[in-house]
Amino acid sequence: MKRFLDLADFSRDEIVDLLALAQSLQDKPQSRALAGKILGLVFFNPSLRTLASFQAGMARLGGSSFVITPGQGTWQLETRLNAIMNGAAAEHIREGIPVLASYCDALGVRAFAEGRNLQADLAESLFSMIDGLCDKPLVNLESSVNHPCQALADWRTLDELAVPRRAKFVLSWVYHPRALPLAVPAATLHMAAMRGMEVVVLRPEGYQLPPQIMEKARAAAALSGGTVSETSERASALAGCDVLYAKEWGTTTYYGDVEADSRLRADLGDWCVRERWFKNAAADAKLMHCLPVRRNVAVADEVLDGPRAVVKREAFNRLVVQMAVLHRMLA
Ligand code: CP
Repeated sequence: MKRFLDLADFSRDEIVDLLALAQSLQDKPQSRALAGKILGLVFFNPSLRTLASFQAGMARLGGSSFVITPGQGTWQLETRLNAIMNGAAAEHIREGIPVLASYCDALGVRAFAEGRNLQADLAESLFSMIDGLCDKPLVNLESSVNHPCQALADWRTLDELAVPRRAKFVLSWVYHPRALPLAVPAATLHMAAMRGMEVVVLRPEGYQLPPQIMEKARAAAALSGGTVSETSERASALAGCDVLYAKEWGTTTYYGDVEADSRLRADLGDWCVRERWFKNAAADAKLMHCLPVRRNVAVADEVLDGPRAVVKREAFNRLVVQMAVLHRMLA
């Protein structure tokens, strides 16, 4: 494997096979499998889980890693093409990425959406440039509209919980004080569709996922036997649901307009998941969230501290599945 950028680059069988490798590495640890191998990690944006789980996973397989957070102890990196570099950035990724790649055996990069131009973010223009600059295996640690490592970990979590393939999976918008990127909702929607689930996107008006993201999920569902629909009606969406995946994201109607987004979300404070949301759900319905989560803003304490919440298992599974990705790339 040379690239792990998008679950859509793999067949369903290939993903199932990768998850089987993750299970086998957990059952029979291979502490020398990546001895002598080095993983470079570049974080243009903050992280807790992705940073720690990749470093831990590499170490557990016998390899090592280095971390670059541009502008924090290392040169700030320019990402714009044809930029006149008379500002804070001292170095361009056109030099920085190939140089870093030359020091390691695989590179992981986190580069969030700019959040200004929806079409540019949907096109993954920055990550495509990084892809073209990296001659080593490359892992997407979260790009403009994708987070394949999170999606793979969430797939494993659903399997561990024995959530049936055809179960009802509701991806629900939840409140956050500001607009967040589309990467996790897009990757989660696609993952659940690819797994073959009955997927419902629940979101208030103004927060529809872009047609390209919905179409991609519908194409995956068509292949796996799943379904994809969307609604703003909370009661009908949650009736009979087996999994509620809570996620915050910004308006797509006024994408990049901070003030319009603030006005739109001002009345949406009740989009905080509470136990009453599960009144007509399956009795053992689960609550998923990729973390970090704002307690009592996006999800209430009563849910996060209750038996439905599997968020810490999702986070642990990041470590497990990423070890499989690294093993496939480097062993
Ligand atoms: N879920 C996730 O990617 O967490 P971090 O942003 O902390 O890495």
